[in-house]
Amino acid sequence: MRKIDIFDTTLRDGEQAAGINLNTAEKLEIARQLERFGATIIEAGFPASSPGDFDAVQKIAKTVKNSIVTGLARTVQKDIDAAWEALKVGQQPHVHVFLATSPIHMEYKLKKSPEEVVELAVESVKYASKKFPLVQWSAEDASRSDKEFLVHIINKVIAAGANVINIPDTVGYATPAEYGALFKYLKENVTGIDKVKLSAHCHNDLGMATANTIAAIENGADQIEGTINGIGERAGNVALEEIAVALHTRQDFYGFGTDVHLKEIKRTSQLVSQLTGVVIQPNKAVVGKNAFAHESGIHQDGMLKHPETYEIITPELIGETAVPLALGKHSGRHAFKDRAVSMGFDLSEEKINEAFIAFKELADRKKEITEDDLFVLFTDKQIDSGDTPVYELKNVQVQYGTANVPTATVTAITPDGEEVSKAATGSGSVEAIFNTLEELVPGKVHILDYRVTSVGKGRDALGEALVNLSYDGNSTTGRDVAQDVLEASAKAYLNAVNRQLIKEDLQGKQQAAIL
Ligand code: KIV
Ligand code: ZN
Repeated sequence: MRKIDIFDTTLRDGEQAAGINLNTAEKLEIARQLERFGATIIEAGFPASSPGDFDAVQKIAKTVKNSIVTGLARTVQKDIDAAWEALKVGQQPHVHVFLATSPIHMEYKLKKSPEEVVELAVESVKYASKKFPLVQWSAEDASRSDKEFLVHIINKVIAAGANVINIPDTVGYATPAEYGALFKYLKENVTGIDKVKLSAHCHNDLGMATANTIAAIENGADQIEGTINGIGERAGNVALEEIAVALHTRQDFYGFGTDVHLKEIKRTSQLVSQLTGVVIQPNKAVVGKNAFAHESGIHQDGMLKHPETYEIITPELIGETAVPLALGKHSGRHAFKDRAVSMGFDLSEEKINEAFIAFKELADRKKEITEDDLFVLFTDKQIDSGDTPVYELKNVQVQYGTANVPTATVTAITPDGEEVSKAATGSGSVEAIFNTLEELVPGKVHILDYRVTSVGKGRDALGEALVNLSYDGNSTTGRDVAQDVLEASAKAYLNAVNRQLIKEDLQGKQQAAIL
């Protein structure tokens, strides 16, 4: 059986999606889970793009042992140098250099002739190969490039030392037949193609990313790139869980395998959704909440008679286990800790104690603490918030009546440790809270997006709020959960501001280290 390598770019291409901004601790948590998921390669970020990205890539390269860690670089020495500084601590340093090869990108974006592009690609791969044992080169917008030019540039790049050649369908334009044929053509025409890995990278603009990726595999791709839940720029990247499950379920037809631990899919998907704030559509293949729900009478009847009448994959396959008993306010610390372990969390005694206090506070207000609640609670404790002083919500109070102007009063602890209270009005309760918080923080704030969802089911489900705002012109996203959506909203707002403060603090520290 031919093994297909899985290149996960949730933390790079996925994180490029509008409204997502993960901090280092969250990226590290996702990387650890991707390692458990069985990603062959984890693209941890774009080290030259910002001090935050550099820091995250370096920490992930230091931590992850069972997956190769890579970082993105343009064909410029400073990007490759930054990638090397971040990745040299890894087990097998790998760099991903990219340059566009389509006529439209070369002419309008790069403003370079095809031969200048070849020269740049070759020089950068030569330079990267002196540092890195593993060099991947991507022909950005390959699917809209001239095939003969692709063969020409790939020949040169392989001779310059690239070990992996990636053929992205950058704008999701290719059809499965076309994309498959491109792989076949490259296999037949590139000199030494069998000595390198050939990789597919599909975007989902026309909803064909999964079909295109499978077509590439059928035509010789050794590696496929994608993200968890299919997050990414515009309509996203191919969803890795779909490819892994499709190859597993239809092994009789395809005969290809991956090293993905299918039982880690559910958890990986849940974690990425929680930390990015990107809600999974209910009917999403494999991981949507309705993926295994059978509503119609005929289907339910068939399922009872023989599950395989309507079920081609089981929830157990992707690690969705029968829901264990909910914990409640009488549950002891021992049962609580056992549950953390059985859910796969590795928390220190101190973190367990903190989580247990939060659990008891929640249990006082909510009868049953479900698996979903615990997942949020444990994940938040597992993620270390670092040592930058930040805002902390102490109290929020809203006066609302259909005939009154809503008024909010908020008390918070500032990063200097001062307790400050403010009050303001708004046309609704949430706006009143946001207006009050805007008076409390010094920066200029614009709300870009705001969403509230429930964690799990039931009328007493926790509320999760997501606030995407611009703080002094910088876009940042915060999220938080609370029993009450207004409290969750206030906390998510401050979380967004705090993330920006942490980012600035990190940039300041790195600047000081350079000087
Ligand atoms: O879609 C794309 O072309 C990319 C490259 C950077 C590989 O993400
Ligand atoms: Zn991409």
